[in-house]
Amino acid sequence: MYEKIYSSDFLVIGSGLSGQLFSLKAAKDGTVNIVTKDRLTESATMKAQGGIAAVVSAEDSIKLHVEDTIRVGDGLCHRDVVEQIVQAGPARIQELVQLGVDFCGEEETGKYDLGLEGGHSKRRVLHVKDHTGEDIEIALSKQLSCAENIQIHENHMAVNLFVRNNRVNGAYVLDLNTNEIERYVAKAVILATGGAGRVFLYTSNPDVATGDGIAMAYRAGAVVKNLEMVQFHPTLLYHHKIRSFLISEALRGEGAILLGPDGKRFMQDYHEDAELAPRDIVARAIDTVLKKTGADHVWLDISFKDSNFIKDRFPQIYETCLEAGIDITKSPIPVVPAAHYMMGGVKADINGRTNVQGLFVIGETACTGFHGANRLASNSLLEAAVLAHNASVAASEEIKSEVPTMEIPPWDPGEATDPDELVVISHLWEEIRRMMINYVGIARSDKRLIRARNRIEFIQKEINQFYWDYRLTPDLVELRNIALVAELVIRMARMRKESRGAHYNIDHPEKSKEIVDTVMQKGYEAIE
Ligand code: SIN
Repeated sequence: MYEKIYSSDFLVIGSGLSGQLFSLKAAKDGTVNIVTKDRLTESATMKAQGGIAAVVSAEDSIKLHVEDTIRVGDGLCHRDVVEQIVQAGPARIQELVQLGVDFCGEEETGKYDLGLEGGHSKRRVLHVKDHTGEDIEIALSKQLSCAENIQIHENHMAVNLFVRNNRVNGAYVLDLNTNEIERYVAKAVILATGGAGRVFLYTSNPDVATGDGIAMAYRAGAVVKNLEMVQFHPTLLYHHKIRSFLISEALRGEGAILLGPDGKRFMQDYHEDAELAPRDIVARAIDTVLKKTGADHVWLDISFKDSNFIKDRFPQIYETCLEAGIDITKSPIPVVPAAHYMMGGVKADINGRTNVQGLFVIGETACTGFHGANRLASNSLLEAAVLAHNASVAASEEIKSEVPTMEIPPWDPGEATDPDELVVISHLWEEIRRMMINYVGIARSDKRLIRARNRIEFIQKEINQFYWDYRLTPDLVELRNIALVAELVIRMARMRKESRGAHYNIDHPEKSKEIVDTVMQKGYEAIE
């Protein structure tokens, strides 16, 4: 069968902030193909409400931002990486402004309206009301639509990387319009596929966050790191119809308080910073209250603040809650914790380089050591912007060197036929996500992790059978990725015999004196 072949200098997979910004920059040095499995703007960036943390005020300093990041990261941050990323922040903010992002406050005087979030000792979160990510994503996509050297392939899902002799040469991609596999050849491949919140039943992430980049990189021989470190955001809207809607931490920054099912405040019993404690602590406290009381949710209350302030500062949250029948200027909001961000990912240096030649990872897909065991709020867009910039410089160097490009052989569908029982795929998907939230969620135990491991091994066998017997469908590709990421999270959680940051195991509640990263590569696992 005829298979389309595309060729470019850079192949970018994913189109959140990091993928789009990388592409804009790299296009100055070579041709870019962007492959993205939904619309260009469908990404975690699009849903980011809080903003982007950076040092832009005279009351703040690089040192303070570095120290906050490291304190919240609970021992696993790499200081040199934190210093470089925080230092690079202000320049990346200026660049976003030049690209059309209109942060709240006065650009001319540099007096931005800065938000406060948990773990920050200063106000330093630049935002556009409560829809910062959306504005960034749209500003970048406008620039992309008129950029030269860039071809955008929406509704295209990367399936596997093509790697020979530890060098990546491109990827096999499923065109979701035709259901045909296409080949994309490139000198450098950049994974910017975001995180894997969809591995868990409750998540703030968009539907596209199925860990595709992590799974593809692992299968291709890349090292993955600290995947057990999954951050739960304390406050997702609890509602039977509106799924995955975040209630930004910025509300707590503006004074909102958490109330138990009895209507009483409880965070002061868990941490001296109460509602503004680091996220892992707030999420765990809510989990404890829910388990103790058997309630379905706790409450977040900001109704005591001036109603005009609430409507002006949080227009999206106000409107969405109103649609759900909750007037947040008058009553508290029902909230639950939900999987939000992967601190772990594909091991990468400060330039996004991995151990596979020509393969770069940026944004949430990467684990650079910046976030450690627990990410400081609004540090993710910062890391995404800095890594996109650094990787564009490094990958442009890469394509100048004599890269031996290889032919990518045609996709071999084997004896695959059309699947006859697609319902099995949705059942397995549901089973993995429920198991992960129950056994590998906020509070883990040795027994729960063993149960989860046994179950995922069994499920993996069924999925592999499906994968080889049937022609690829998007659901099957995602299911295979979700199952692999779930397996890696479980195995790495079992390797960490302590509680630290987002990883809490009731059988090992203490922090170990020895500070280690967990790492895995196909056929090999270790702590280092
Ligand atoms: C939020 O607005 O609470 C999310 C910000 C973040 O996760 O950094």
